[in-house]
Amino acid sequence: MTGITIALSKGRIFDETLPLLAAAGIVPSENPETSRKLIIDTNKPDVRVVIVRASDVPTYVQYGAADIGVAGKDILIEHGGDGLYSPLDLKIAKCQMMVAVREGFDYASAVRQGNRLKVASKYTKIAREHFAGKGVHIDLIKLYGSMELAPLAGLADAIVDIVSTGGTLKANKLVAVEHIVDISSRLVVNQASLKVKRETLQPIIDAFAQAVEK
Ligand code: PRP
Repeated sequence: MTGITIALSKGRIFDETLPLLAAAGIVPSENPETSRKLIIDTNKPDVRVVIVRASDVPTYVQYGAADIGVAGKDILIEHGGDGLYSPLDLKIAKCQMMVAVREGFDYASAVRQGNRLKVASKYTKIAREHFAGKGVHIDLIKLYGSMELAPLAGLADAIVDIVSTGGTLKANKLVAVEHIVDISSRLVVNQASLKVKRETLQPIIDAFAQAVEK
């Protein structure tokens, strides 16, 4: 494969990457929300976009099945970043990784008293490192979604999840009690691709960088 393959996930990342692609002169020919196609051609014959789950973007790029991709910092921390070059914060899809609990749960006291906390999250690495850093012992429960339900259903005392507008927490009577890390999406590049296809890739990376600074 001599062309360039770009891995993106549907939704916010795809939408917010479109202006950056446009700055590099790349226009996808279809929107994955409506087409359901997983391989999308672009106006450039040698550039295509593959649509994968957000958490799979680093894997596609790591193994060279995609040359570049866009992935949230949350996903990159969980993945570990092996074999990936991550040169650019794209400053898109911004949100925050937070600890949240049920309204009325006295998180500060529970921590102060050294209680063992039940924590549910799909971000297990981030959660484990955060509480280890605080010296708080936790039982970690891995979930794959709808984490807001866990404190309400009595599965966990706290969750570690992404907060964007705060609307989901509010709708479920949860409150954020701790900020862990600011999240935004980064460009990830396969290291071998960068060597072999630098002539095509570097102008795309440069165009992204310029568009971010605007
Ligand atoms: C994320 C997160 C929250 C929600 C927060 O879920 O898990 O549920 O967004 O956004 P808000 O603060 O604006 O309400 P997402 O929609 O990304 O889906 P997911 O459950 O697959 O992670």
